Amino acid sequence: MQTMSAIKAAQLLLKEKVKSAAVLLDGTAGNGGDTLFLAKNAPPDAKIYAFDIQSAAISQAKETLAAAGFYDRVEFILASHADLDKYILEKIDAAIFNLGYLPRSSHAITTLGKTTLQAVEKVLEKLSVNGAVAITAYLGHSEGAAENEKLAAYLKNLSKSEFVAAQYKMINHADNAPICYVIERVK
Ligand SMILES: C[S@@+](CC[C@H](N)C(=O)[O-])C[C@H]1O[C@@H](n2cnc3c(N)ncnc32)[C@H](O)[C@@H]1O
Repeated sequence: MQTMSAIKAAQLLLKEKVKSAAVLLDGTAGNGGDTLFLAKNAPPDAKIYAFDIQSAAISQAKETLAAAGFYDRVEFILASHADLDKYILEKIDAAIFNLGYLPRSSHAITTLGKTTLQAVEKVLEKLSVNGAVAITAYLGHSEGAAENEKLAAYLKNLSKSEFVAAQYKMINHADNAPICYVIERVK
């Protein structure tokens, strides 16, 4: 049975940061799986923001959190993560983005290279020293491949003195297997 995946890696690599974070972000709430991961692992008084542009996703994420008893721990925001700076004024300690489209929903509503980059730039600006961001990117659909190209080019060029950026990808699977990027602010 496969127990490792890009999404699992994103959560595992972020977990230690989440445990000591005061402000956290799920940039793509979707069904709420990653928001729940943040809520379960963050300190009880941490502030958690969860964004999605689809009201169906926000409703589902709310249900997921409510069913697990974590509803009150999260501020759900029906807006693009590209506008996150309008809603989050503090520094961010840990953030997670699971890109692409909502599973079992319209593939036409998907994250896009331009807005994803705007969001990632804003998160990195707001990231506290030793804070980290995990991003899972899906290359298997055309918008996802274009988005990943932009994202990878941007991450490769981040200042080495300010950030470390790494990737986790299965090398014995298809070339377009999902990639998990993890970026830590070091200065
Ligand atoms: C792969 S799903 C996220 C899965 C989710 N993290 C979970 O655990 O269920 C991607 C989500 O990103 C959302 N999305 C697309 N563009 C967005 C944007 N600009 N800002 C915020 N969310 C966006 C989609 O509506 C979709 O729900």
